[in-house]
This record gives sequence, structure tokens and C-alpha cells, in this order.
Amino acid sequence: MNSNESTRPAFAPRRITVVGCGYLGAVHAAAMAEIGHDVVGFDVDEAKVALLSQGRTPFYEPELDELLERTLATGRLRFTTSYEEAASGAEVLFLCVGTPQAPGSNAADLKYVWSAVDNLGPLLDHPCLVVGKSTVPVGTAEHVRDRLHEIAPAGEQVRLAWNPEFLREGFAVKDTLTPDRLVVGVERPEDEQELASLYAPVLDHGMPWVVVDLATAQLVKNAANAFLATKISFINAMAELCEATGADVVALADAIGYDARIGRRFLQAGLGFGGGCLPKDIRGFMARAEELRVDEALHFLRDVDDINRRRRRRAVEMTHELLGGAVTGAHVAVLGAAFKPDSDDIRDSPALDVASTLHERGARVFVHDPKALDNARRTRPQLTYCDTALEACKDADVVLHLTEWREYRDIDPAELAAIVASPRILDARNALDAPAWIGAGWTFKALGRPRVAG
Ligand code: UGA
Repeated sequence: MNSNESTRPAFAPRRITVVGCGYLGAVHAAAMAEIGHDVVGFDVDEAKVALLSQGRTPFYEPELDELLERTLATGRLRFTTSYEEAASGAEVLFLCVGTPQAPGSNAADLKYVWSAVDNLGPLLDHPCLVVGKSTVPVGTAEHVRDRLHEIAPAGEQVRLAWNPEFLREGFAVKDTLTPDRLVVGVERPEDEQELASLYAPVLDHGMPWVVVDLATAQLVKNAANAFLATKISFINAMAELCEATGADVVALADAIGYDARIGRRFLQAGLGFGGGCLPKDIRGFMARAEELRVDEALHFLRDVDDINRRRRRRAVEMTHELLGGAVTGAHVAVLGAAFKPDSDDIRDSPALDVASTLHERGARVFVHDPKALDNARRTRPQLTYCDTALEACKDADVVLHLTEWREYRDIDPAELAAIVASPRILDARNALDAPAWIGAGWTFKALGRPRVAG
């Protein structure tokens, strides 16, 4: 069933609908228009659709504004809140809705998936291919297929495929147009052909085209995110060992990373992972394994989650240490609010967690972030927000570097030392030039590097 390059069908433009215009869907819709398809982006959120229709993104994602503007101008991309418009004439419908963690449970909340299926299904009166891209518990695709067959007027002529997405926030446009692989789960060779033709301009870049069954396609995504989370927690567990022995986790990561079987990427020790994907995805994966009665297979993910949470607590402890225990009333400057640089996403942000804990303990916390201030302000109004890093640091008793934005690496330590009350810094992302800071008179602490101290 796996077509090789020489037998792959040629590109043919399709009428595509992208259901759900969040990080994943908005980028996917614009990318599909960019490669030549006629695309309708659908979302239930009227404000989001209005913004996207004007070529403006409701979130910060490098290159997306330009891509939107360009593709809207071609006339091949439009956005709607109408289910009828979304369904009408669509040859391929991509499901890109969110699957957040369910309140009070580890499991994924599939309400947006079912709402999309139940609202669109009855309008699918013509043969079409529905392609799931959302991250779901394995087994969901098969339920979606059965439900569509039951409720769509076109019945079994509505086919289902699964095409997991591996894009990273901050690199979403690049990851969509030139991904490192494309994975499709299909039930019939014709569906693989359809997707190979649809993605032909992307596949021309030569990346692997991996054709699997529906269950494998869903699991590939669960497994990829579980592996990435495990890799990060592994190096953060090593950081704990380093802290107990005087070793240096950055040197350790470099040394093991030279082994091509291990690799240096995603071995950046520090405050650990946050965001709307890795934390909820490993929990959802564990919840699904429990339902499948194979929970023992994923017990290790509990440790992965625990190690990750412990790093946040350790950062708070180290702040206490830097302040000599005097947290109440201390001016704490926090550099970074987003869960990672080049994003304004603050979902499960390690930085905001640490900032809020210190606030609860009586510190006066001043937060700066280049892009995420508005989002942070909305969810954590108790903290004080500053438009510049210097403003947050003025008269600070301690500075915490919690999200590794490029502009923080470019700060001149001597200049900053001149405006703080006391030159003490925690580099919780191991991204600053420690000798330069120490040389400028700073007391410098870093996670997993006990000997790097000024
Ligand atoms: C992650 C995956 O990397 C994507 O492949 C996947 O498509 C996406 O989830 C998703 O499921 O949609 P993303 O959440 O954008 O992408 O962010 P990552 O770049 O994976 O970073 C996640 C977190 O791990 C961040 O908080 C980052 O600071 C942290 N991290 C990353 C580390 O602490 N150390 C590292 O070495 C790497």
C-alpha cells in the first residue's frame, strides 16, 4: 500500500476544509492554500475567524502573518463559522480541533472532536475523505469513522484517515511546509493515493512518507510526544544527580549527546517542559493505557511527569537560597512567561508556575516576556507585568531567567548589575553565558550545575 516516489500520484488541487483554527489548524489551512489547494478554514469562534479573515493571527507564530496575508490574497483561502460552508463541496476535511486535558482527570477531553463530527457529519452528503490531525487517544479514529458512517447521508462514502501532526510552536510554518516526515494512517490504498497527491508539493522536498494503519498513526503521535517528554525528564533527572554530586549537567548532556544513538537535541536541562502538548499528552497516554489494561507499560511516564514538576519546585527552592530565605517582600524579577521562546503560549508554563508560587510566598514578582504578557496578564492577574526586561529588573533582589528568549541572552550583565538592588540570578534554562555573568559580579546559580556559582 506504500507508494514509492516513482509511483506517487501527481499533485491535484482539492477543495479542502480545515476544521478548527487554533495553532494547528490555522497554520495547516494557510499551508494547504500555499501549496495550491482551495481551502476553507472553519472555527466556531467568531472573533478568531474575523481576525484570520483579515490576515491577522490570534496568537504569535513567526512567519504565519505573512503566510496568511499571501494566501488570502490568492483567493484560495477563506474562513467561516458556518458548518454548511465547511461541509459543502469539501473533498478532504482535516480535523484540527484541540484535545485538552479533561478537567479533574488525566484523560484527553474529546468534546471538540465529537462536536465537529456530530455537526459536520449530517452535512456530508457526498464522497469525501475526513483526515484526523488532532492528537487523540488510540482508538478514537475508529470511533470517528463509525460515527460518520452512521450519521453522514453519504454513509460509507465518507472515508477516514489519520495524519498526525508534529509541528512545534515557534516553527509551525516551517514544520508544516517541510516536515521531517509525513505519517498517514489509512484503510484503503485509494486514500493513501489521495493524500499523496494532496501533499505532493510537500513530498517533493524528499521527506519520508510513512503509510500505516489507523491505530499505528494515532500511536505514533502519542509515542513521539512521550519520547520527547521522557528525553527532557531524563536529562532533568541527571540534573538532580549533578546537584547531589557537584557534576555539571550541561557538560554531561554534551558528552552523551555526541553519541549519535542518543543525540544532543531535547537534552536541554532546566525548568522542564510545559505547553499545551507534552504535559497533557503524556497524561492522556497513561489514561488510555489504563483503559486498555496495559497501564504498567506506561508507568514510567508518571516518573517523567514527577521529575518535570520537581524542577519547578527546585527553581523555587533555589530562589529562596539566593535570597537567603528572605522571600517575603523581596523584589523578584522574572524573565519569561511563555512556556518556551518564540511563542506567546502560556499554557502550563513552567515560568508562570514558578512566578506564581513565589508570589504566593509573599514575594513581589515583576514579570517580563517579549510576546506573552497579554496572555499572562489574563490568567495570572496577581503578578506585576513590565514592558521591558530592564523595568522588571530595576531594584530587583533576584533575577530569574525562566524562558530562554534570545533577547535575554543578549543582555549585558554589567549593565543589568547597575540597576538591580542585588546582582543575584538563577538561570533556570542553562542558556546564559555563566562566566560573563559571574565576571560582571553576579551570584549565579543554574539548575543541575552546582559548581557554576559566582
Ligand atoms: C511539542 C512537540 O515537540 C511537537 O513535535 C508536537 O507536534 C507538539 O508538541 C504537539 O503535540 O502539538 P511544542 O509543545 O511546540 O511541541 O514544544 P517543544 O519544542 O516540544 O517544547 C516543549 C517544552 O519542553 C517547552 O516548555 C520547552 O522549554 C521544553 N524543553 C524542550 C526542555 O525543557 N528541554 C529541551 O531540551 C527541549
